[in-house]
Amino acid sequence: MDRNFVDLWDISPEEGWQIIKDAYEIKRGLDSKRYLEGRTLALYFTKPSTRTRVSFEVAIAQLGGASIFLQEESLQVARGEDLRDTSRTLSRYLDGIIIRTDSHKKLQEFAQYSNIPVINALTDMAHPCQILSDIFTLYETFGEDLRNIKIAYVGDGNNVCNTWLVGAGLFGLKLFVATPEGYEPSSLYYQAGEDLCKITGGSIYLTTNPIEAVKEAHVVYTDVWVSMNQNRKDEKIQALMPYQVNRELLSNALPEVKVMHCLPAKKGEEITEEVFEAYGDFIFNQAENRLHTQKALLKFLFTQR
Ligand code: CP
Ligand code: NVA
Repeated sequence: MDRNFVDLWDISPEEGWQIIKDAYEIKRGLDSKRYLEGRTLALYFTKPSTRTRVSFEVAIAQLGGASIFLQEESLQVARGEDLRDTSRTLSRYLDGIIIRTDSHKKLQEFAQYSNIPVINALTDMAHPCQILSDIFTLYETFGEDLRNIKIAYVGDGNNVCNTWLVGAGLFGLKLFVATPEGYEPSSLYYQAGEDLCKITGGSIYLTTNPIEAVKEAHVVYTDVWVSMNQNRKDEKIQALMPYQVNRELLSNALPEVKVMHCLPAKKGEEITEEVFEAYGDFIFNQAENRLHTQKALLKFLFTQR
């Protein structure tokens, strides 16, 4: 049976840990097998991307496969062809498809009609490849202690935040989330995270107080306040100002705190330039790890059959 990776809950905790451990081996050059030899995958994107597109294209090439980049405007679907027909057609040519789109529902519909693995490369609701990779970055840093550290997400309750809730549940992590009133993460993703926490022993604490979330944290994570396809509203920026990751907020965290950002960053909004540069090495290692984790994910999805 072909496996999709539309949401983090599409894999089990055991499978998640296996992917993380495989990423560790792949990064260290201990596994350089060409798992995609003879396979062709497409990247179907409706939104811009630097990291996700390039890391997937490089990952596919390094695994011996071929990739095709499809910008939605260049497909007949942009002229009104039924998405279900696009999905059924592309399934006949390709071995897998990686999709970035504005609508999670659209991605689910595509996956329903496809009989090849569909990988979510970001939607309005979720960014599972990002959080899987971020958890690998933390595993690399904290090892098995990962389950005991305090991770704080501060900022907008967006697709990245939603996926962190599920990631905490899947891997049994201690996650604190601080978002302003009116900008909370999705209740569906929160519930999915909570349900998984009951199995894995993780915990999720939601608050509107950024200081409480960051207090004695080992990791502070943030993301942009205006995501792709969202309109910029002054009212939202104002509400998020107390959640800016700056020196003052970070002074509440542990002295050895690690700061993470999925990128792209809007310096001066969710993070100050000073803090960004001080933690730049960690943030760019986080970006690099997208490549290794996605190779491990592709290995997982394409060695199942
Ligand atoms: N973090 C991330 O997904 O970056 P891109 O938008 O550049 O792909
Ligand atoms: N929340 C951001 C993440 C970018 C990787 C967005 O959706 O634009």
